[in-house]
Amino acid sequence: MIKVITYGTYDLLHYGHIRLLERAKALGDYLIVGITSDDYDKTRGKINNQQSLIERIAAVKASGIADEIIVEEYEGQKIDDIRRYDVDIFTVGSDWEGRFDYLNEYCKVIYLPRTEGVSSSDIRAEKRKLVIGTIGEGNLCRKFVREMHYVNGVEYKECDESFEDVDAVYIAAHPKKHYEDVKRALEAGKHAICESPIALSSAQCQNLMRLAREKGLILADAIKTAYSTAYSRLLVIAKSGCIGEIVSVDSVCTSLEDGAGEKDADLSRKQNSICAWGPTAMLPIFQLLGTNYKFKSIVTKIIDKNLNYDAFTKIDFVFEKAVASAKIAKAAKAEGELVITGTKGYIYVPAPWWKTDYFEVRFENAAENKRYFYQLDGEGIRYEIVAFAKAVESGKQSMYIEETISSAIIGVIETFNKGEFDEI
Ligand code: CTP
Repeated sequence: MIKVITYGTYDLLHYGHIRLLERAKALGDYLIVGITSDDYDKTRGKINNQQSLIERIAAVKASGIADEIIVEEYEGQKIDDIRRYDVDIFTVGSDWEGRFDYLNEYCKVIYLPRTEGVSSSDIRAEKRKLVIGTIGEGNLCRKFVREMHYVNGVEYKECDESFEDVDAVYIAAHPKKHYEDVKRALEAGKHAICESPIALSSAQCQNLMRLAREKGLILADAIKTAYSTAYSRLLVIAKSGCIGEIVSVDSVCTSLEDGAGEKDADLSRKQNSICAWGPTAMLPIFQLLGTNYKFKSIVTKIIDKNLNYDAFTKIDFVFEKAVASAKIAKAAKAEGELVITGTKGYIYVPAPWWKTDYFEVRFENAAENKRYFYQLDGEGIRYEIVAFAKAVESGKQSMYIEETISSAIIGVIETFNKGEFDEI
């Protein structure tokens, strides 16, 4: 019996795939089809699949051509599979010509001519594109637009404050302006994705969320960390109980980049530390411990009283069964790490934890420690855009940052803005 194996993503199964599978099958007696897992695709830079692994498997299965379907999960797996299944022929389309010649050592390699004029990317792109405009600060907007190029199904268009000709808008202005900007966008019937905080009071935040709901629009909080794979994995690992009960979450976010601490710095157009870093630093605290803290205290070092500009701020929370702290600064520097303390062990995320691709689960017995690596492209912004576009398409708010979390973060910033803190 001649065994043939082929691999692919098979997103939105099309005529080109079917022809490839039929010809692959005709090369032998038994066809194994390897379908890439969502995680493996992410590591290959394919972040845009429209269908989940289960849906893609179901489609290939329904074609009736494959005798066996397996999942491709890691780099180098092809060699393992060829040996394990005793494969005689490896085949893929000619778009991969030469790339798998190294497999000749294990079996025969055949490249089949690719069917012209059809691809999953084209089908994804044919769907109506989500046109996104930007308003606000140049640097952040430029980064966002650059990252949009990596996402199928979205397109950038310049827009002014009337938001004409766009379906959605990315907002990265001064936090003082966010509420008005988001409100205007929603009132104009546009979906919005706004840098955090999206407003400066809980009441304003709830207004915006209500408005979005009433209008059937998506309003997303743009904390890029929330969308990175390593961060979302560490949340579920922490919640799975492997470090026991969580008793403390301590996060540190600092940056000195815009000279806020210098004597004659013009701070009027800059974000203070709590707005710039508070949302990111508080995110894991509320996502892991919930938002029902019993008590909080804020200690801060203010540089400019009129502007309420803090050089350094430390926020401490007491929950029923845990404590947490967020240390943030734009005019002080510390190790930007995240530590989640549990009764059996802890999770350590090295600096800068908010854009990490790596973390460790550590125990008393270091031999039990585990290390986790994940791909991170575009600091998470790329994944944030994918999640936003998916939310718009499905009409469901994305689950990455729940409304209660955005609202709790803004509640703390509101307390700070009211001057309810101790000064050092
Ligand atoms: N294939 C083909 N002809 C096409 C498209 C794909 O023969 N028009 C083959 C590929 O060469 C590969 C298999 O089908 O062997 C699965 O390809 P996959 O990457 O899943 O499909 P694409 O349509 O190329 O996807 P994308 O546009 O996302 O790259």
